[in-house]
Amino acid sequence: MNGLDPTIHQRKDEHILISLENNGYTTGTTWLDLVKLIHDPLPLLDFSEIYTSTYFLKKKISSPIFIDALTGGTDLAYKINLSLSKLAERKNIPIAVGSQRICLTNSDCLESFKIVRKTNPTGVVLGNIGISQIIEMKSFENIDKIISLIDADGICIHLNPLQELIQKKGNLHLKQGIEKLIQLQDYLKVPIILKEVGAGMSKEFILRAFNQGFNLFNVSGFGGTNFTLIESDRAKKKHEIINYYSGQTFAHWGIPTAASILEAKSVLQDKAYLIASGGIRTGLDVGKCLSLGANLCGLAFPFLKYAQQSENALEDFFDKLLYELQILMALSGTKELSQIQNIPKVLLPPLDIWVKQRNLFLK
Ligand SMILES: Cc1cc2nc3c(=O)[nH]c(=O)nc-3n(C[C@H](O)[C@H](O)[C@H](O)COP(=O)(O)O)c2cc1C
Repeated sequence: MNGLDPTIHQRKDEHILISLENNGYTTGTTWLDLVKLIHDPLPLLDFSEIYTSTYFLKKKISSPIFIDALTGGTDLAYKINLSLSKLAERKNIPIAVGSQRICLTNSDCLESFKIVRKTNPTGVVLGNIGISQIIEMKSFENIDKIISLIDADGICIHLNPLQELIQKKGNLHLKQGIEKLIQLQDYLKVPIILKEVGAGMSKEFILRAFNQGFNLFNVSGFGGTNFTLIESDRAKKKHEIINYYSGQTFAHWGIPTAASILEAKSVLQDKAYLIASGGIRTGLDVGKCLSLGANLCGLAFPFLKYAQQSENALEDFFDKLLYELQILMALSGTKELSQIQNIPKVLLPPLDIWVKQRNLFLK
């Protein structure tokens, strides 16, 4: 973990600033608006009976909401990670750091990651690195190092082929990806979470990975932060015309979050741990994702946005999310998270058409 690559610093801050300036470049929707949960006018519970605690990676957490991978590696990232980890500690929710690739070459950036564990000594903290880095590695000692840097409870490996293709023209070598992941899984002592970055996961991919022994997935579907447009914007500023236009063309590529949860659930049933993210913005969205089968919901851009405003704004946002989830539980007579999947629901078109054409098996 030494050497220096100044362009990574720049890229990290550009991701933050471009997403903030453009509201995450969100285009299209998650299709969560097509999930209608059925209202109960006289629910058989008192509001005080609602219980939102659950477990993740053997630790008890206060709610099924977590801070998904955002950043690390720069002064700006340090400040953001400090406020996010304070929130994670106060509210006892998991937090993932952003890509730790920068730690492999820039040893001056380590504090911006370490601060997350320092602030949050006992909570769930997740590491993060891209599949492209894993494929390039001859051995995995550096993964041990980035895990121990933050005493991570698990490591997220991001799968981001579309982002890579818009970022670098045609430079994608993923053929050995699953083989390398299997080797890494055999080597590591902490669990691997496979995650997308906003284009979702199909049932075919999930089945392939599940059959190879992976059982933690974060679908990170379409409809939230749009990395295709963030990279397209960066390409435009650098006059990389092919990358810029290709990003515009593929701006709507991906599986909407609601459809992606159903794709995953259809294969996994209750045999694996399913995380939803990508465009989750309210406690109602959280409840809908849980009703479709997710165990945990991640939000990235909204936490970034409010962390940039103030610690109070960040805390208010989290409290609002949780309150909205509790309202949903009250209005459906649901005391515990495990019952949310049983809330009667209707899937509107085109989500219902997706379910039919894709032969998704739902309980
Ligand atoms: C500024 C920014 C930086 C991100 N960096 C990473 C990253 O380093 N690694 C990763 O796996 N995902 C990264 N993501 C993706 C998020 O973890 C998440 O999958 C995606 O943004 C969709 O969630 P959202 O709509 O709530 O933002 C980043 C997101 C944002 C907004």
